[in-house]
Amino acid sequence: MKNADAYYLYDEAVILDNLRTLKQTFPGFRFFYSAKTNPNRHVLQTLLVNGCGIDAASAGEVRLAEGLSVAKDDISYSAPGKTDEDLRYALPRCRVIADSAGELSRLDKIAGEFGGGFEIGIRINPAFGMDAVAGGPSQFGIDYELLDSLPALQNVKITSIHTHIQSQNLGWETLARYYENVFALAENLKTRGFSIRIINFGSGCGIVYDKSCQTPLDMEALGDAVRKLTEKYAGTAETLIIEPGRYLVGKAGVFRTRIIDKKVSRGKTYLIASGGMNGFLRPAAANIAKLYGPVSRGAEPLISCETPCEISVLNSAETTEVVTVTGNLCSGFDVFARDIALPKAEVGDYLEFSNAGSYACTLSLREFAAQPKVKEFFRTVSGEVVE
Ligand SMILES: Cc1ncc(COP(=O)(O)O)c(C=O)c1O
Repeated sequence: MKNADAYYLYDEAVILDNLRTLKQTFPGFRFFYSAKTNPNRHVLQTLLVNGCGIDAASAGEVRLAEGLSVAKDDISYSAPGKTDEDLRYALPRCRVIADSAGELSRLDKIAGEFGGGFEIGIRINPAFGMDAVAGGPSQFGIDYELLDSLPALQNVKITSIHTHIQSQNLGWETLARYYENVFALAENLKTRGFSIRIINFGSGCGIVYDKSCQTPLDMEALGDAVRKLTEKYAGTAETLIIEPGRYLVGKAGVFRTRIIDKKVSRGKTYLIASGGMNGFLRPAAANIAKLYGPVSRGAEPLISCETPCEISVLNSAETTEVVTVTGNLCSGFDVFARDIALPKAEVGDYLEFSNAGSYACTLSLREFAAQPKVKEFFRTVSGEVVE
C-alpha cells in the first residue's frame, strides 16, 4: 500500500464471515454474487472458491466470469437493454434472463442460429412491491400482466424466473414478505403452464451505513422466516438463488486517502485529500443529493443514506478539531464532509472511510481530470496484502 495516496482495502475475513451468515440464513440456497457491486478479482475469487456463482449485469461481466472459469450454469446474466451482440455472446456461456418481450423474441431468434435447445429465464416486474404496495412501471423485467401473452418460442425454453425489486432493506419482515410473494408467484405461474426449475430472488439484504439511525438486518429472524417458507414451498423449484451484493462486501472495504494540504480559509479549516469524487464518490454524492431534499430510495446504488460512511484519521492524535474534508478536484462538489469533528490531522496523515466495499470503486469518477487512479488492495485471511 506504500506510495498509494488513495486506495481501497478489502478484507477477505469479513467477506467470508458475511457469506457464512448468508449460508446460515438461507439454508439450501445458492448465492450468485452480484459482480457489479465490486468486481475486484480477489473478491470474486474468494466468493467463487467458496461456492458462489456470478450474477452478471452485462456481457462484460459474463466475460469476466468466464475468464475465471465459472461454469455456464453458475452465471446468470440479467440486465435491461441487451444488444444482439450481447445475447449472441452470452447465450452459449451462461443462463440469460430476458428482460422484455422484445428481447425474448430476439433471444429466440439468436438461439436458432446456435441450433436451439437453450434454457433461459425471464425477469418479472411483479404486481407486488417491496413495501406491501402494488408494483409500478419499471425498465426492469416483464410486467406480470403480460406473462400470458409472451411471444411463441421455438429455440429457448423458460425454466427460471428472476425478480429483484429493491436493494438495501434492513427489515427482515419486509424481505420475508417479498420472498413469500415470489414463491407464490412461481406457484401461480406453474398453474399457468410455466415449468420453473429455478427461482432467483435477486437481493435486497441491506447493511448499516449510519449507526445513529439504522439497525442491522436481523438475520436470525430472517433465517427463521426463510426456513418456514422453504418448508411451505418445498418442491416449488429445484434451485433457489439469492444474488447478494452489498451484504457480502459492503462492510468489508475501507477507502483510505492521504491528506495533501491543510489550510484555513476565513476561519474554516480544510483538509484536502486526493481521491475525492474520482476515488470514493459516495460521500460527495450524498452531499449533493442533500441539496435537493431528503435522500430518496430511488437513488440506489449511488446514494444509500445521508451519512454513508464514518470517517476516521489514522493517527494517534488526542485532540479534535472541526474540519471540512475535500478532495483535490476543481469542483466545489468534491467534498467528503463539512464541519465535522475529527482527531487533529496533519498533511501526510491518512483518512479512512468505512462502508466502501460495495458500489464504491467502480462507481466513482475515476477518469475525471486525469488524476492518478485509486488502487485496490486485498487483505487475505492469512493477513497478506495483495494488489
Ligand atoms: C438484478 C440484481 N441482483 C442483485 C443485486 C444486488 O443487490 P444487493 O446489493 O441488494 O445485494 C442488484 C442490485 O441492484 C440487482 O439489480
